[in-house]
Amino acid sequence: MIATAESLTEGVDLSGRRIVVTGASSGLGREAARVLALRGADVGLACRNAAKAAGVVRDFVARHGEGIAGRCELLDCDLERMDAVRATSGVVFRRDLETVKLNPQSSDLDAAKRL
Ligand SMILES: NC(=O)c1ccc[n+]([C@@H]2O[C@H](COP(=O)([O-])OP(=O)(O)OC[C@H]3O[C@@H](n4cnc5c(N)ncnc54)[C@H](OP(=O)(O)O)[C@@H]3O)[C@@H](O)[C@H]2O)c1
Repeated sequence: MIATAESLTEGVDLSGRRIVVTGASSGLGREAARVLALRGADVGLACRNAAKAAGVVRDFVARHGEGIAGRCELLDCDLERMDAVRATSGVVFRRDLETVKLNPQSSDLDAAKRL
């Protein structure tokens, strides 16, 4: 059997956890965001393309039902723009979001080093 994020988190309850995932519009970040929300966490999807991110949440709803939408918040953030990173950081701190799952590409790391 192939282990997946979904199979590995079977039975895990993340209700009440508040987690931000960068790069949540595709690939690993998208899958991480989906499974974290599926397990009950409130997930901030930090993405640079709002339309693409909204489509991701629509896909989560199609797969798991309307309830998952209430646990997904879109955070507009182009990680190459320091003003956007600072604005999103402000949201993260104001809302007391507890974990930031960085899912960086190399350009994101370059941006992070400039913080
Ligand atoms: N896939 C693997 O097996 C694997 C294994 C080990 C490590 N990694 C590493 O994990 C990271 C993610 O891999 P992946 O396969 O999931 O990549 P991916 O499918 O290309 O996803 C990259 C994500 O980063 C976002 N992104 C890129 N630049 C951004 C920016 N300036 N601001 C905001 N978001 C930005 C993309 O947004 P858009 O949708 O807007 O483009 C996308 O959501 C990469 O660094 C990769 O090297 C991957």
